[in-house]
Amino acid sequence: MARVALVTGGTRGIGEAISKALKAEGCTVAATYAGNDEKAAAFTKATGIETYKWNVADYEASKAGIAKVEAELGPIDIVVANAGITRDAPFHKMTPEQWREVIDTNLTGVFNTIHPVWPGMRERKFGRVVVISSINGQKGQFAQVNYAATKAGDLGIIRSLAQEGARSGITANAVCPGYIATEMVMAVPEKVREAIIAQIPTGRLGEPEEIARCVTFLTSDDAQFINGSTITANGAQFFA
Ligand code: CAA
Repeated sequence: MARVALVTGGTRGIGEAISKALKAEGCTVAATYAGNDEKAAAFTKATGIETYKWNVADYEASKAGIAKVEAELGPIDIVVANAGITRDAPFHKMTPEQWREVIDTNLTGVFNTIHPVWPGMRERKFGRVVVISSINGQKGQFAQVNYAATKAGDLGIIRSLAQEGARSGITANAVCPGYIATEMVMAVPEKVREAIIAQIPTGRLGEPEEIARCVTFLTSDDAQFINGSTITANGAQFFA
């Protein structure tokens, strides 16, 4: 039977590519989004992938949303915690709100996404958990104390979950994308972005599909022994 996959932030950017790639692998995919109804409707029209709207920062909303997905599509076998935001500012200018928003969405959001599906995975003795971290969780980044903290936190989460889930047939891994051609990176001021590209030995931004391929590899049935790992895909910009 087709595996059921949940991808948070699955209608845009890297998440969109992941949703499509998992569908191409034969999965039944549920893609979540937080606010952009228009984009989500266009995404469903183009791909046939069901979308669900909730805020990953809200535990009760995540739990209810996941229950709805499971009622409609079946038990979730694969969860990709991808939803994330930036609120970049040099530390001396970063507000407590900018700190909290990013922690709530990017880090607590990962807890809120995995926690409701974890008991079912344990019972069924199968699960694939992938968290989309970042190069900036590995190396840190000017103006991203908040974001880098969450992305480094992702690695602690998957390394702990890997140990807890291993006996239950569950794997938990992370992908650390470098700078990928998405709206998030395009929002960086052009001059800064050019300077970043100059630091990428491959000489270009990555493509969302290059990250999606890492996810389909980690979530395949025969990737059971790859657990607690991090795949780095950054064009040789940084070696963790
Ligand atoms: N290293 C060292 N110095 C830097 C720097 C860097 N990377 N970036 C900026 N600076 C310096 C500037 O040269 C400037 O110095 P001067 O004042 O001497 O000219 C100073 O820091 C910037 O001060 P500003 O007061 O102008 O900063 P600002 O409040 O306007 O903030 C910014 C600007 C938010 C930092 C903006 O430059 C920016 O967005 N930078 C990009 C940060 C970044 O890389 N974010 C990653 C987004 S993509 C992503 O997150 C996806 C992923 O996972 C990879």
